[in-house]
Amino acid sequence: MSGTLAERSVESEAWALELARSFSFERLPAGFHENPYPSYAALREHDPVHPLGEGKILVSRYADVERIYKDPKTFSSDKKVEFGAKYGPSPLFEHHTTSLVFNDPPLHSRVRRLIAGALTPRAIAEMENGVIALVDALLDRVEALGSVDLIDDYAAAIPVEVIGNLLAVPRDERGPLRGWSLAILGALEPFPSEEKLAEGNQAVLDFLAYLEALVADRRQRPGDPEHDIRTRLIRGEASGERLTREELLQNCIFILNAGHETTTNLIGNGLQLLVEWPEARRRLIAEPDLIRTAVEEMLRFESSNQLGNRIAATDFELGGERFPAGTQITICIGAANRDPAQFPDPDRFDIARQPNRHLAFATGIHACVGMNVARLEGRIAISRFLARFPDYAPAAAAVRSRRVRFRGFTSLPVRLR
Ligand code: HEM
Repeated sequence: MSGTLAERSVESEAWALELARSFSFERLPAGFHENPYPSYAALREHDPVHPLGEGKILVSRYADVERIYKDPKTFSSDKKVEFGAKYGPSPLFEHHTTSLVFNDPPLHSRVRRLIAGALTPRAIAEMENGVIALVDALLDRVEALGSVDLIDDYAAAIPVEVIGNLLAVPRDERGPLRGWSLAILGALEPFPSEEKLAEGNQAVLDFLAYLEALVADRRQRPGDPEHDIRTRLIRGEASGERLTREELLQNCIFILNAGHETTTNLIGNGLQLLVEWPEARRRLIAEPDLIRTAVEEMLRFESSNQLGNRIAATDFELGGERFPAGTQITICIGAANRDPAQFPDPDRFDIARQPNRHLAFATGIHACVGMNVARLEGRIAISRFLARFPDYAPAAAAVRSRRVRFRGFTSLPVRLR
């Protein structure tokens, strides 16, 4: 770019306008996976309710995203229409359309109540010592190795154990869980390939077959319903209302999936942010009590879950325009969490930021039911790693997972000292 300052800003204004107008998940702008935030800024500024093809919009401003999450009557989570077109009759269709997250009340509320009962503040506080012991054992192991991949050797190893405990999956049977979960969630990408769809369908079938045996065993030998979500889902509510076999199995799969990759990415993204923002790292080492606000800022700044979806149950108005019932809405959490109208200086990573009403866990009736489990894991994993290896540094290039819905890395090689 050349010319006077005024000419340059006109040029960059035109560039942002074009970036927003032409935005599509099918043809992502160059460099999008590395840094999607210029595109999100352009969308928020120039096309906050952006058409994504016939009957589909992308919403990027914080106020609009919050409004959509808080109005589940107008903005339904029921995905039967959308997933019917995307998956056809298939295991993936059955799985996703039976999960609580992709349903409206009453199925949603029934399942949610059962899960939430095992995630009370007391139950979560009781997990703390177990997570510390798990993290410390991993740190001992990586210390012996000298250099590690923060994803495979550390971040990914934590959630699988925590959720495995919550659903009482025997320890020596947890091996395939992460692969199944990645395959099933991978098929949620806006444009999954045939290969990804086939992997996702097979993973649902394998997962169902595995859980069927596990649930049969729990029916014979119930666990402790204060801590074991599987036992709670099997027992149903005190009112006597039970989940069907299909609802029970598919929601066990969903819980196993929901807390895996998202939490792995929180830990991986958080540790990588402390590499990219050395001043923030120095401050967190000097003031370890900032870990709570630091984790919230990591969730805001590099939200592991960047996109959500809703479908309009009635006609509605947004951004001065009217839209008909049936409109499919993609909610951009990643853009909302960098909205300057909500967060002063939003592209600054500020580990002491307060208030920080980010939407990384969404909000409203579907707000993440595991958010305090994720926060606990994030705080323990990041603070204990930093305390033990304050000088960790990249050992090779970080590799991003090239997905738009889930933001994170497939590999983060570091040396520890
Ligand atoms: C950093 C980690 C996590 C992030 C960023 C995250 C994000 C989210 C988001 C954005 C939603 C709302 C989806 C929507 O309605 O469109 C959600 C729902 C949910 N999450 Fe999480 N999640 C995380 C960890 C967990 C964990 C550890 C668990 C389980 C222990 C969990 C269980 C759930 C469940 C069951 C729902 C569905 C809630 C409902 O529909 O009412 N999540 N999560």
